[in-house]
Amino acid sequence: MTKPATTPPRTAPAVARTPEELDRLRANLGRVALVPTMGALHSGHRSLIAAARDHADTVVVSIFVNPLQFGPNEDYDRYPRTLDDDLAICAEDGVDVVFAPPVEVMYPGEQMVTVSPGRMGRVLEGEFRPGFFEGVLTVVNKLFNLVRPDVAIFGQKDAQQLSVVRRMVRDLCMPITVMGAPTVRDADGLATSSRNVYLSPEERTTALALSRALLSGADASVTGPVGILSAARAVLDEAALATPPVAVDYLALVDAHTFGEVPNDFRGEAVLAVAAWVGKTRLIDNVPLTL
Ligand code: PAJ
Repeated sequence: MTKPATTPPRTAPAVARTPEELDRLRANLGRVALVPTMGALHSGHRSLIAAARDHADTVVVSIFVNPLQFGPNEDYDRYPRTLDDDLAICAEDGVDVVFAPPVEVMYPGEQMVTVSPGRMGRVLEGEFRPGFFEGVLTVVNKLFNLVRPDVAIFGQKDAQQLSVVRRMVRDLCMPITVMGAPTVRDADGLATSSRNVYLSPEERTTALALSRALLSGADASVTGPVGILSAARAVLDEAALATPPVAVDYLALVDAHTFGEVPNDFRGEAVLAVAAWVGKTRLIDNVPLTL
């Protein structure tokens, strides 16, 4: 008579040598796509949700107005919070999971450890909003760890954010594919944004100068960096005299991968980016260009 085995026979552990091998070992719950947002969902967010549905079995949308990425004099308190409307949109768009944590869940105590974006996070948006990208990367990292998505989708509307997130994923070996989705615009050219609700009708008309300036720069792309910037600048200079006026924080032509300003003989993927104030509202927009 053979003795019954008290422990199951041992099998050799599976060994993974690459992130891809590790992925294959993960319990197969289907491919998960995450769309991180701060809510007040609009057509831009909805295009990201549609892209997520095309690339995954399960779509998760996070809705969290992240205090860590707002400066002391920014609009954290008045940022639009429209959770009921957002949930209705998510239902209509076939989102599987909405992750909408309260602030105490995301920040139960002092956030001692944060993610530094390095020099890419100190230019353009990072120069005008100190600490912004550190706040973004820290919350995105938390969301990645909580949701553990296979894919995460970000909009080209926030081109520098997209590049900095891509760089974090690469530099910190995160097992996530980051996808960019093109900027969605209203029929008049204004890029859709949760902050557009702050604009009065007159301010909105003035704000159209941003997309006009980018278009003008793009039309001049054969003339190279100097020509592109001066074509865009001419539109913004005129808008600075409008009522109400545009007040430009920056207009820059940068390398799409590093966000460093391009030299005049640059060849490759670039981004023409603008940030400007119209009244008390700060708007950003950009257009990708191949030089
Ligand atoms: P939020 O401004 O809500 O934007 C969420 C996502 O929607 C971002 O990836 C943004 O680029 C994208 N998006 C916004 N407007 C868009 C438009 N008109 N066309 C295409 N995509 C658009 O960006 C954030 O939130 C936060 O910084 C976040 C990443 C959630 C971290 O807190």
